[in-house]
Amino acid sequence: MVSRFSTSSSKNLLENPLDSTGLYPDPVNLLEHEQVNISVLRRLVGQSIVSADQFDKNLVLELCKFAAMLEATDISTFRPLTGKIIITAFFEASTRTRLSFESAVQRLDGKIISIPTGQITGIAKGESLSDIGEMFNAYGDLIVMRHTETSSVEEIMHNLRLPLINAGNGSGEHPTQALADWFALLKWKPELKKKQIRPASQIHLGILGTPGSMRAVNSFLRMSILFKSGIRKISIVSELADPLGPELTEKMEASGIDFFIANDINEVLPDLDVIYMNSIAFLGDHYRSLNSRFKLDADSNLKEDAVVLHPLARLDELDPLLDETHHNLYFTQAHGAVFIRQALFISILNRFDRLPEKLML
Ligand code: CP
Repeated sequence: MVSRFSTSSSKNLLENPLDSTGLYPDPVNLLEHEQVNISVLRRLVGQSIVSADQFDKNLVLELCKFAAMLEATDISTFRPLTGKIIITAFFEASTRTRLSFESAVQRLDGKIISIPTGQITGIAKGESLSDIGEMFNAYGDLIVMRHTETSSVEEIMHNLRLPLINAGNGSGEHPTQALADWFALLKWKPELKKKQIRPASQIHLGILGTPGSMRAVNSFLRMSILFKSGIRKISIVSELADPLGPELTEKMEASGIDFFIANDINEVLPDLDVIYMNSIAFLGDHYRSLNSRFKLDADSNLKEDAVVLHPLARLDELDPLLDETHHNLYFTQAHGAVFIRQALFISILNRFDRLPEKLML
């Protein structure tokens, strides 16, 4: 089995053979001897990341190549984030997002100020987010924020003069999750990078969820449109009659991608190459399990080489028995998020000059 966590190894990027086990796709698959194009990544310097709509395909590809390089190569001795302070402000629960952002910083020698729950801030006394944003300006260099309210990003940005990364705003968006999702997909099937893909290699993408009210699937769908050359069809399986809402429906129609709404997973499952699942939505002031009747387990009628993505946390919709099968791309997705987040920090904070020259263009 090829490890996905190669940061402590001294793999030589250019000598590494392509290697794909299916279960643990090697990041070198994605590089294919190409260097990372920094001039594209420089577009992110000083920028906030609030929506998947900010990205074009070229930027996603260069970020994913950069993340692959960071995954395949130990650059910790170059300490690219030395002297930078990242504030992780989480006003809503998280396992993966906060810890992977913090792990990304620590591994690159940055420092963290962490707010793991809003109740330890002035919020408990009624302080506004815009006032908290004003304070953040003096304490750090970049803010990563998750919040229960969709309007939180707009509110904090009133007074914030530092770059902000939206780590999930209510039922709005989770753009860096979409980057982690596409990083996993591109490692699994590097052909998806191409402008022209032979029809036999195009994927039928199934989304089990409600993009209109689930932030991870919302951002994933928006980013997927950029990869339309590799997509034969998108099927959205939801218990709601209109899971997209008017804006996403318009976007999908304008994309030219063939898309289909289904209420029964069995209508489409045997034809899906990629299944993106999510069950938990934050709605107003509570978590709700949506689409709980759509479950995958070891007996599900999956295509032989189909892969499953899930931003996690899971409930009982995704059987742990699938964890040990080659359908499991969700652990690759979660673990690769550290490197995507490292790529974002280095780009936004313009620390390219700290990296080994031979790795970058
Ligand atoms: N993927 C994701 O957002 O997970 P957490 O809620 O644990 O951060």
